[in-house]
Amino acid sequence: MPGRAGQDTYWQMKLREDRLQMRLDRLSEFTVPGRPWTRRAFTERYAAARDWLQNEMALAGLTTRVDAGGNLIGTLEGREPAHGILASGSHIDTVVDGGRYDGILGVVAALEAAQAIAESGKQPGHTIEVIDFLSEEPSDYGVSCVGSRAMSGNLPTDLLEYTNPSGERLGEAIRRAGGAPEKLEGPLRGKEELAGFLELHIEQGRVLESTGTQIGVVTNIVGIRRYEIVVTGRADHSGTTPMNLRQDALVGASRIVERVNAQARELQASNGYLVATVGKISVRPDAANAVPGEARLTLEVRSDSEDRLAGFLDPLLGWAEEAVCRQDALQIEVRRLSATHPTDCAEPIVDTLAASAAELGFSSMKMPSGAGHDAAHMARLCPTGMLFVPCLDGRSHCPEESITMEDALNGARVLTRALLALDGTAPKGAVPGKS
Ligand code: GLV
Ligand code: MN
Ligand code: MN
Repeated sequence: MPGRAGQDTYWQMKLREDRLQMRLDRLSEFTVPGRPWTRRAFTERYAAARDWLQNEMALAGLTTRVDAGGNLIGTLEGREPAHGILASGSHIDTVVDGGRYDGILGVVAALEAAQAIAESGKQPGHTIEVIDFLSEEPSDYGVSCVGSRAMSGNLPTDLLEYTNPSGERLGEAIRRAGGAPEKLEGPLRGKEELAGFLELHIEQGRVLESTGTQIGVVTNIVGIRRYEIVVTGRADHSGTTPMNLRQDALVGASRIVERVNAQARELQASNGYLVATVGKISVRPDAANAVPGEARLTLEVRSDSEDRLAGFLDPLLGWAEEAVCRQDALQIEVRRLSATHPTDCAEPIVDTLAASAAELGFSSMKMPSGAGHDAAHMARLCPTGMLFVPCLDGRSHCPEESITMEDALNGARVLTRALLALDGTAPKGAVPGKS
């Protein structure tokens, strides 16, 4: 039990808004000029941002390291190593032209929480880790959540062989990021090592804003399946090949795109939550005067139900066999790129987050996450939970993504309060303040 002095120290603990803002702003400067906000994993710019972050972690009093999965980890030693580690974090890589706060907020807020706890002068019982997971967004190697997959043992070695458009293997890219691909045959952490994982994130949707709610407490995270579909026809001269003699791969691909959309709408209406998207397409030869001979699509399917996820592809391929292969004389090949299962957050953590929001006087609601997160992989290792703060107009994965500093700080305060509550050393009513 903490003594009086400890209680007072916690009571007076302050999160620094200026520091939170400085770190959010500083990270946003690591972007491709003219393309806000683009900081793709595995690039030199990303490495520079991580060097900066590692230095900030050290200045905050954390010891830092990069694990075999290329995750950057800052550690604040606890009094009782046997209690296990309480970890919090997210990612600082972005999609192209988006992601000013997506992921970044969760890393910066976890760092602020750990620093404020360190500065309170009282050592927590649990060791606290701040984690910047490697490459959460879909990478150029066709895999997302690379670091959290590696940490939780969900990065099968065949994924390490995936290559980027320049032919570099994912395993080599992980090595460039400071990892050790040869050590990724199993989980990097034992189940007994971690006592819990919390991730603060922007909502990336409109529910909190439209209901005027300050904090979202996540109950479950969608499962995501991604496939590459290659449609092959015949490349020909666009001026000399009559319409009836063409095998245009892009025409077949466009039929597939429409069918994906129609099938997802039907299923969503009759069966419950499922969304499907073709968000990426490339064509060969990719010339104004050539009939496309090959089209490569990425199909992504999301649902909170494993059955709905599993049931999407076969009817699509059955339809394509007739409508695209037979009628248009095209070939189709499909390769599964990745799969994450729908994941429930741990009830005790959900309850702790909701109670922490209430103690701080914030309105909150329980809600599912339609976006994928590192937390979904961490849930394989330890009790895991997430909290959301509103983002402007629900916009995300686009340059307009924005949040208020007030919401950022609210989220950081709930996160800190929940970490202290899980640590068991927070006296009842301990309220991390702001300055
Ligand atoms: C994460 O950004 C996702 O793809 O949901
Ligand atoms: Mn994202
Ligand atoms: Mn994210």
